[in-house]
Amino acid sequence: MIALAQMAEAVLRTAEGREKTALSRGFAAEWQAARATGETPEIGRADPPLHPARPAKPELLSPREVPRRKPGTPEGRIALLHAVAHIELNAVDLHWDIIARFCDVKLPMGFYDDWVKAADEESKHFNLMSDCLEAAGSHYGALAAHAGMWRAAEDTADDLMGRLAVVPMVLEARGLDVTPGMIEVFKRAKDTGAVAALETIYAEEVAHVAYGSKWFHFLCGRFDEDPKERFHTLVRKYFHGDLKPPFNEEKRAEAGIPPDFYWPLTAEGST
Ligand SMILES: [Fe+2]
Ligand SMILES: [Fe+2]
Repeated sequence: MIALAQMAEAVLRTAEGREKTALSRGFAAEWQAARATGETPEIGRADPPLHPARPAKPELLSPREVPRRKPGTPEGRIALLHAVAHIELNAVDLHWDIIARFCDVKLPMGFYDDWVKAADEESKHFNLMSDCLEAAGSHYGALAAHAGMWRAAEDTADDLMGRLAVVPMVLEARGLDVTPGMIEVFKRAKDTGAVAALETIYAEEVAHVAYGSKWFHFLCGRFDEDPKERFHTLVRKYFHGDLKPPFNEEKRAEAGIPPDFYWPLTAEGST
């Protein structure tokens, strides 16, 4: 078995979506099998690329250039699934990147267990969205996607606490806010396949946000810092713009993010 950081780098350097997720899931299974026998596998070190390898398609456009489609139409629903597939592929890379990028920071084994599990689940989510797209006669790569999804990773490439604050605790938490509305769109269209896939994603994302909160608080404890204040400072430094309500307060609470973490970062709360 190769060291975990090398597994992470290999996933980051694989371009094609289904190939990336197959490698990711295989590595996760190896890691989990080793951990189940009570082993402490090697973390090692790696040289992750600043930008992960990605397929030639989809074409990446700035958010303003990506055409908007009405969710009430079949085309609109395909566009929605495509956007989620793109987010999931990005998330696969984000979770392996946190493993490869910060291997110089001394962390408990549980940190790696959590992000390997999250990366494995994101891989499953990308495959689920790809399956839904294919069932609807499309595929990942058929439409343009947002460029700049990797921006948060680049901005926090040498700040682990900044990475935890912005990626799981802001971006993935935002997923908890918007997914129920998306599920409604597919329920109205009686697309039971997409509803089931999105419900799986919704259920599993709560844990990813919780891992972020857990390890953020762990590092605050290590450095004797106030978590809420540190969170506000880091989000203002690395996240461009205000956080936008409405928030899914219940799921955010379940994931260990209390309201006084996010409300002060809204346009309303910061005035
Ligand atoms: Fe996901
Ligand atoms: Fe996630």
